[in-house]
Amino acid sequence: MLSVEDVRVRYGGVQAVRGVSLKVRIGQVVGLIGANGAGKTSLLNAITGLVARTGAISFEGRDFAGLDTAEIVRHGVIQVAQGRQLFPDMTVLENLELGAFLQSPQDANATLAQMFVRFPVLKTRAAQRAGTLSGGEQQMLAMARALMGRPKVLLVDEPCLGLSPKMVGVIGDVIRQINAEGISVMVAEQNTAFVFGLAHRAYVVENGEVVLEGEPDQLRRDDRVRSAYLGI
Ligand SMILES: Nc1ncnc2c1ncn2[C@@H]1O[C@H](COP(=O)(O)OP(=O)(O)OP(=O)(O)O)[C@@H](O)[C@H]1O
Ligand SMILES: [Mg+2]
Repeated sequence: MLSVEDVRVRYGGVQAVRGVSLKVRIGQVVGLIGANGAGKTSLLNAITGLVARTGAISFEGRDFAGLDTAEIVRHGVIQVAQGRQLFPDMTVLENLELGAFLQSPQDANATLAQMFVRFPVLKTRAAQRAGTLSGGEQQMLAMARALMGRPKVLLVDEPCLGLSPKMVGVIGDVIRQINAEGISVMVAEQNTAFVFGLAHRAYVVENGEVVLEGEPDQLRRDDRVRSAYLGI
C-alpha cells in the first residue's frame, strides 16, 4: 500500500538516503533498523514531505510527488516524530486537538474519546502542560496526537528512546493494539529486539541504504544482524 522506490535525500554535501526502496503492506508492522545517522529519520521525513527527495513514493496507488505534508496527512500517512515534538507549553488536550486539524469537530470528539480510553493517563492529565509529562507519557501523547488524525499508516520514529524497559513494553503493546485495529505501522528504531518482537518484516539501513530485509525470524539468524544489532 505504501511504496517507496529509489528515494534519495541530500543535505548539501551529505547524502543521507541513497536510493531506498521498500513497501509497507496493508495490516503490516514494518521495522526500520539502523544505527545513529543511518538515515531512518530522513527517510520518514521524505515520506511525509518534510524534506526534499528524489525517487517515487506512492500510497494506495496515489503518487505523492508534489504533495505537501498536510496533503499527505490527509491521505492517511502520519508521522510520530523522533523526540516526540510536543508543544510543551500547551496542555495535553490542546496537543491532542492539534492532531485533529483536518477532522470535523464531531470526528475529532469521537477520536478524542477513543484516545482517552486507550490512554487513560492522558485523560487524567488533560489539563496539564505537555512539557511536564514523564518521557513515557510524552511518547503516548505523541502517538495519540498522531492517531487523532486517523492515519491508515503510522510512521513512528524511535519511540523507545530514553524509556525504561517497562515503558518500552507498554509502547510495544500500544503499537500491537493499533495494528490489530487495522492501522499499518512503520517503526524506525535502534532497539532491534523491540522491532523483532513486533514487526512482520524489517529493513536494516546502513549509510542511507537498505542492506538486509526479511522477516524477523530470518534476520535473527543472520550473523551480521546478531553481532552488529543484537550484540549476541
Ligand atoms: N538537516 C540536516 N542537515 C544536514 N545533515 C543532516 C540533517 N539531518 C540529518 N542529517 C545527516 O543525515 C544523516 C542521516 O541522519 P538521520 O537523522 O536521518 O539518521 P537516523 O538514522 O534517524 O539517526 P538517529 O538514530 O540518530 O536518529 C546523518 O549523517 C545526519 O548528520
Ligand atoms: Mg532518527
